[in-house]
Amino acid sequence: MHYLAWRSLLMAATLLQMCSSRELEPNHSLPDKIIKLPGQPQVSFQQFSGYITVDRQKQRALFYYFAEAEMDPSTKPLVLWLNGGPGCSSVGVGAFSENGPFRPKGAVLVRNEYSWNKEANMLYLETPAGVGFSYSSDSSYYEGVNDKMTATDNLVFLQRWFTKFPQYKGRDLYITGESYAGHYVPQLAQLMVEFNKRERVFNLKGIALGNPVLEFATDFNSRAEFFWSHGLISDTTYKVFTSACNYSRYVGEYYRGSLSSICQRVMSQVTRETSRFVDKYDVTLDVCISSVLSQSMILSPQQVTERVDVCVEDETVNYLNRKDVQDALHAQLAGVTKWTVCSSVLEYELLNLEIPTISVVGSLVKAGIPVLVYSGDQDSVIPLTGSRTLVQRLANELALKTTVPYRVWFEGEQVGGWTQVYGDILSFATVRGASHEAPFSQPERSLVLFRAFLRGRPLPETFKYAP
Ligand SMILES: *[C@@H]1O[C@H](CO)[C@@H](O)[C@H](O)[C@H]1NC(C)=O
Ligand SMILES: *[C@@H]1O[C@H](CO)[C@@H](O)[C@H](O)[C@H]1NC(C)=O
Repeated sequence: MHYLAWRSLLMAATLLQMCSSRELEPNHSLPDKIIKLPGQPQVSFQQFSGYITVDRQKQRALFYYFAEAEMDPSTKPLVLWLNGGPGCSSVGVGAFSENGPFRPKGAVLVRNEYSWNKEANMLYLETPAGVGFSYSSDSSYYEGVNDKMTATDNLVFLQRWFTKFPQYKGRDLYITGESYAGHYVPQLAQLMVEFNKRERVFNLKGIALGNPVLEFATDFNSRAEFFWSHGLISDTTYKVFTSACNYSRYVGEYYRGSLSSICQRVMSQVTRETSRFVDKYDVTLDVCISSVLSQSMILSPQQVTERVDVCVEDETVNYLNRKDVQDALHAQLAGVTKWTVCSSVLEYELLNLEIPTISVVGSLVKAGIPVLVYSGDQDSVIPLTGSRTLVQRLANELALKTTVPYRVWFEGEQVGGWTQVYGDILSFATVRGASHEAPFSQPERSLVLFRAFLRGRPLPETFKYAP
């Protein structure tokens, strides 16, 4: 009797203690937990999404979607994924069309067998404010957003995200992304490296960049050769496109509002021959694989003005605009009436395009951060040849010796692409048959690439490779 009374008293005390310690430290991620997305198949991993405020006045909030690893999330790294534009959505493009766990199909979601959350805890961020569900309640913020502002907000976002998800603080962290994220990713990584000198918060283990803008003249001017060698333009046009007016000059003039007549003539000749009906993000695919995939705010100005929307209905756009989906995601539309792939309100400082980030990549390598630059080899927007030149040049500058000579790599029994590694820290790889959005068009090969990157291993050398 006595014994039992004591026991229940003790139990009550313990319970009380447990409750009060819970109260002291509430679980901040719980409100962001996604119960179930409409049309979603049953899964075993947890998903979260919601907002993180990034400024003092509480006017700007960035929206994220987080898919924990399919198995053993506590032993797997944290990977941030960013899409480009600037101004396009990592949730719409990255998560729901490229390497996330689901892809919308009509009213339902289907599993992506090659989702990157097989290997990592995947965090997708809509950035800067004004993109997707991310917003600034003071719309004057949207005028003249630049790379610096974006990188700063991204850094603050991650710091505060760790408050919501303390179990990920100190976890191995990788930053990945594509296209204009060739600016976002190195710039954010650099801020982290600097921040870590004062307080070691970010356990940054590497960055991966897919078809990235790293040095705009080299990247853009490799387009002419790509068009020419793939039969999209004639010998004559190739000549004027590399002498009279090249693409970097055209884009520079275009964004300064000072298009010369010679550039205008050359570009209309190029456009006439390539035709509007070839997808510049994958020259072998029929036009408009999906309007979701065009991260084209600045990368293809010609395309924006002359876009032919062959894909009338887009699955992701439809899905993310459903009220029940937005409710399930804890998302809201602020200052816009519709969720769009690329922002309609943001006025990004487009000439930031001309800031070279390859030097930032160099400083990261010097700081000991592994870097992978990969290229979907069917992309004419940021062709593999430009990226390969830039990586090779950087390796020379840093006096990094080739540790894996240029060779094929395998996915199963097929060639997945080519690769070269410098100093065991700087890698280049192509993804064979892939578009600008490699994980969309070559999901299997992209997953092999991602796995090797996370494990710090060279890409599989023989078709017998069993990961
Ligand atoms: C908070 O809740 C989430 C969702 O259930 C869970 O995964 C996580 O482990 C919890 N965190 C802590 C610190 O209890
Ligand atoms: C592109 O054009 C600019 C301006 O005419 C020139 O300075 C640059 O060298 C050209 N680049 C290439 C690769 O032809």
